[in-house]
Amino acid sequence: MAENPTTGTTASTTNKVVREPTGIPGLDEALKGGFPDKNIILITGTPGAGKTTFAMQSLVFGAKSGEKSIYFTLEESVEDVIDQFSMFDGTSISKLVQDGMLKIVSIPLVDYDSLKDTLTNEIESMGAKRVVIDSITYLQLFFSDVMSIRRAIIEVAAMIKSKGCLGMFVGEMSYGDPKLSSFGVEEFAADGVIALYLLEKNAAFIRAMRIIKMRKTDHITKYIPIEITDKGIVTHPNEELFAEI
Ligand SMILES: Nc1ncnc2c1ncn2[C@@H]1O[C@H](COP(=O)(O)OP(=O)(O)OP(=O)(O)O)[C@@H](O)[C@H]1O
Ligand SMILES: [Mg+2]
Repeated sequence: MAENPTTGTTASTTNKVVREPTGIPGLDEALKGGFPDKNIILITGTPGAGKTTFAMQSLVFGAKSGEKSIYFTLEESVEDVIDQFSMFDGTSISKLVQDGMLKIVSIPLVDYDSLKDTLTNEIESMGAKRVVIDSITYLQLFFSDVMSIRRAIIEVAAMIKSKGCLGMFVGEMSYGDPKLSSFGVEEFAADGVIALYLLEKNAAFIRAMRIIKMRKTDHITKYIPIEITDKGIVTHPNEELFAEI
């Protein structure tokens, strides 16, 4: 189990639900202790809202805490992912990759069966405990109807859970559209949903996060102000987003 450096505790068992620290400063508090163990979390949001940063930050946290972590990208090369995150936390991503604690895999978009086989084989061979798929929206390339996409998401989620992993699926939202995901099914297939937003305020964008759902736990439901800094995402669960309005 990953240790939370802030509290010095390992995954807690409050209310008999085993928790995994998220790795996002302030978020464990908003979730009353972290992600429930072996949950599948949808990290959704508008373009540039910080979805990839959130997912990678949580993986890096897991990897540094001794949990092997694997990031599957369906849209970028391995080099681009490493480049994007080299500014966060110095050289730690390359070092974690070298040490075998973090693996970044770019999956070619061939067909669903080979995608599923690659996911399964890579997770098994690494012995991963945290898994990110960025982004799940690419499943639409392999199916012509939404129910087949839903079935595929459920199948991949079940495989990840069967390996005892915490899974994070990156999803997508459009500006101004209240829908939480591209297909409208991802949020039902996941145990938890975290939505990241860029909201317009005083002619600028401000960043926010909302925990839309999280099975097996109580959590904050309001918009939580967040920042992206050169250390990654920081949340401010005790602050109000629109306090001065
Ligand atoms: N060092 C930094 N300091 C502050 N903000 C940063 C920094 N690096 C990136 N950002 C912000 O983070 C955003 C990108 O975050 P990220 O790639 O995680 O978003 P995303 O939701 O995955 O985007 P996409 O929709 O393109 O996949 C940038 O648009 C920028 O606003
Ligand atoms: Mg991204």
